[in-house]
Amino acid sequence: MGVNIHTEFGNAVERGSVDEFLLHQMDPDRLPSHIAVIMDGNGRWAARRNQPRVAGHRAGAEAVRATVETAAQLGISYLTLYAFSTENWKRPRLEVEALMGLLREFLHKEIRSLKANNIRFQTIGREQGLESAVRREIDRARRETDSNTGMVLTVALNYSGRSEIVEACREIAAECLGGRRAPSEITEKDIERRLFTKDLPDPDLLVRTSGEMRVSNFLLWQIAYSEIYVTDVLWPDFRRANLFEAIIEYQKRERRYGDVNPAAKGSLTAANVK
Ligand code: FPP
Repeated sequence: MGVNIHTEFGNAVERGSVDEFLLHQMDPDRLPSHIAVIMDGNGRWAARRNQPRVAGHRAGAEAVRATVETAAQLGISYLTLYAFSTENWKRPRLEVEALMGLLREFLHKEIRSLKANNIRFQTIGREQGLESAVRREIDRARRETDSNTGMVLTVALNYSGRSEIVEACREIAAECLGGRRAPSEITEKDIERRLFTKDLPDPDLLVRTSGEMRVSNFLLWQIAYSEIYVTDVLWPDFRRANLFEAIIEYQKRERRYGDVNPAAKGSLTAANVK
């Protein structure tokens, strides 16, 4: 078992609050090890307030801060956030610039908190495609948190799930053409160790905000057996209680990985499996 979540949150959770109620619904021994999040709904959050989309992203950065802190306090080992897809370059230039600026600002401001919370920062995606000022900030955050041993915070930036699979296939195809291996020897491991996530376990729980039922090119290979939780809450409104709710729902699910329920196994007879 990791940290005692009930004492860890101690004074941070108000007595008699919804957060405290939810905290006690969670089984600390069955927390997901890896939570991945599709942060959606920033634009709608802003539109509902007659504000520009960028205001939604700025409020979204606050939700990122809160979620990172809560996950680290809970003792979650891996948190992966989808911040910018390769498709997001299609957005208006000013919006893209604002998103990059927010990311730089977040890394600059939060580095101290990442260190204090023993969080290791990394990114997945095509880093070369990002502007140099963003890359410098990413580099610094990675270097300065490199020896941390707590939660691994991965931010997906300029990321595409399909592209990383294609890239892996290209490398394997080149090996086959070079005669270094036969196609019949290719296994899932060969793909996995070529993905950006090669050092991460697959997500146990995939959270998507704002009610959309899509995976949007995020971790396509890795979420094969993840539990998916969709909430109507828009990302800028996502706070500690919402993460608790996602985990509580996850703990109600029965993960079978294609197998049947072990309890049901004993009752299988030739008659009822037909
Ligand atoms: C989706 O909302 C959100 C994004 C494309 C960007 C996510 C970015 C942040 C939360 C802010 C900065 C990130 C970090 C890591 C500090 P949308 O704009 O697609 O919303 P909509 O579907 O309502 O238009």
